Amino acid sequence: MYTKEEYNEFLLKYNYALKVLETNIRILLSEYERNTKTSVVDHIKTRIKSEESSLKKLSRKGYEQTLDNFDKHVHDIVGLRIVCPFLSDVYEVVELIKSSELFKIIEEKDYIKNPKDTGYISYHLVVLVPVPIGGKLENIQAEIQVRTMAMDFWASIDHKLQYKFVEEVPENIKDELYRSSVDIQHIDEKMLELKELIKDYEEQ
Ligand code: GTP
Ligand code: MG
Repeated sequence: MYTKEEYNEFLLKYNYALKVLETNIRILLSEYERNTKTSVVDHIKTRIKSEESSLKKLSRKGYEQTLDNFDKHVHDIVGLRIVCPFLSDVYEVVELIKSSELFKIIEEKDYIKNPKDTGYISYHLVVLVPVPIGGKLENIQAEIQVRTMAMDFWASIDHKLQYKFVEEVPENIKDELYRSSVDIQHIDEKMLELKELIKDYEEQ
């Protein structure tokens, strides 16, 4: 184990990385929205993973509780979520991040095309954020989640329910959640059609 002081010291680089990541992402998105005269983002949320969640993740994966293992096995200590109105916005944002030279992408998961068994849908990127530490650039990992407002609604309700049950979530509730996730996907498709209709109307 490690001491409280060691943990706080360890967390510094992640706190810096969160600031750098958020600033860069906000500028990247504002520039894009300004240049294209469109709006692709509803809101952005950031967080540093709690020590408790990081420890849980290590024990779930069967690793010892050391700071070194946090660095190696917890890729989402820094988390940034971009919530977009439309499905098409999600893919525009993902492409924008991927084509920028600000971050190196080390993992990419499209849970929109391939939803998780729970019904969870989102687009995930794990990136390396170059952070100036001690006069040098150090690459710090961060997880970026990109999703629509509807996907965010589902994930937030799902997250709340997970906390309600100390043991496993009952099967019938899991099934209902999965079904509601399918509904969420339909709503996103409908909204996209609506967006296209409005665009056609405006162009007439
Ligand atoms: P990790 O080792 O934890 O990273 O597992 P993984 O790589 O299988 O998962 P991934 O990185 O793809 O997703 C982890 C994050 O996605 C979590 O921290 C949540 O924020 C989110 N997430 C994944 N599955 C669910 C889910 O079923 N419900 C909700 N609400 N969020 C989820
Ligand atoms: Mg992961």
